[in-house]
Amino acid sequence: MKSLDLDNKILLTLKKNKIKKSSIHEPFFSNIEIKNIKGLIKKNSLGSFGKDLENFKIKLSKYTNSKYVVVLNSGTSALHLALKTIGIKKNDEVLMPSLNYIASANTTLYCGAVPHFVEISGKTLGVDPNKLELYLSKITKIKNNTLVNKITKRKIKALICLHTFGHSSEILSIKKICKKYKIYLIEDAAEALGSYYKNRHLGTFGEIGILSFNVNKIVTTIGGGAVLTSSKKIADKIFKLSNISKKPHPYKFVYDDLGYNYKTTNLNCTIGLAQLSKINQFLRRKRKLYFKYKKMFSKFDSLEIFSEPKFSRSNYWLQTMILKRPSLKLLNKILKTLNENGYGARPVWQLLHNVNYLKKYPKTNLKVTENFSKRIINLPSSSFL
Ligand SMILES: Cc1ncc(COP(=O)(O)O)c(C=O)c1O
Repeated sequence: MKSLDLDNKILLTLKKNKIKKSSIHEPFFSNIEIKNIKGLIKKNSLGSFGKDLENFKIKLSKYTNSKYVVVLNSGTSALHLALKTIGIKKNDEVLMPSLNYIASANTTLYCGAVPHFVEISGKTLGVDPNKLELYLSKITKIKNNTLVNKITKRKIKALICLHTFGHSSEILSIKKICKKYKIYLIEDAAEALGSYYKNRHLGTFGEIGILSFNVNKIVTTIGGGAVLTSSKKIADKIFKLSNISKKPHPYKFVYDDLGYNYKTTNLNCTIGLAQLSKINQFLRRKRKLYFKYKKMFSKFDSLEIFSEPKFSRSNYWLQTMILKRPSLKLLNKILKTLNENGYGARPVWQLLHNVNYLKKYPKTNLKVTENFSKRIINLPSSSFL
């Protein structure tokens, strides 16, 4: 093994430990999903309303301990409506990490607003609260109860905080900063169903939290999302916007605002219910897989397996390998070898500040973000591994 390059050493280790060749994250279905779907087809109850949709909402609310849940057709829709509902408008700035899925930036642009990229911490892979505070203290002032960017003269209205790969950010410190600087906190907990910070479910710290049930998530409805909030007003507004802003009426059509068709269906939610009933099993298996990877790679001194941050419990949605030293060349070599051999390893997303149409937007110093983007390799992470 000594004479092999790192990519081949990793490959050999995966094979030796009988890790199945698979893509990055595949769903696990059983008879429960099939039974639920058959039941709904028989009842001809597959559409936008129904018992399973209501039940899924109730079960999610109980599971996350979120007072209100609105289920939608995607996590992206959930982010969009979250921003609309807190009043994000043209030219408002929305803070977000650059090491991020594209949806936070896109939905900010849907509102005509401006994404503004902030730095992450290597301990969590989420927003670094210390650097955020330092940055805001330098570039902003509070005027008429609103945070203003002294450089761009625009209002900074919100922070979208990502819990990366299911790991908790330092969410209480981040929440404190948002309060001090009078900005809304939206938690992108798309990847974090089943993850906690100090025993509180992620997505329930900010004014609004969002989840995704995309087919690669820990619990899937094939495609779907949800909003978590403790505010009835926010929940009602989001529900209405997602239902083309139609006024509640048994048969008449009256629209009182510009709305969206972001509804989910009873069919999607019946799959979600079946999946949610297995979440403890999924979480157990994913934690076991983490320990397996940790042990497998414990003798490698040039990399480590990312562990849940302090005070948190992760769902280990993705298993993340971190190279000790940043090297795009080595990273690409490992990704190529693993993928060519049937292991769907993935790098982190293209950094948002490097995306062509996002390059012009404001950003802080992103040294840590850049550094980690050259070190992260996500390994096959399905619960059945
Ligand atoms: C961090 C993050 N945010 C938002 C989303 C958007 O969710 P969806 O794919 O359901 O629109 C995803 C997932 O795909 C995600 O991983």
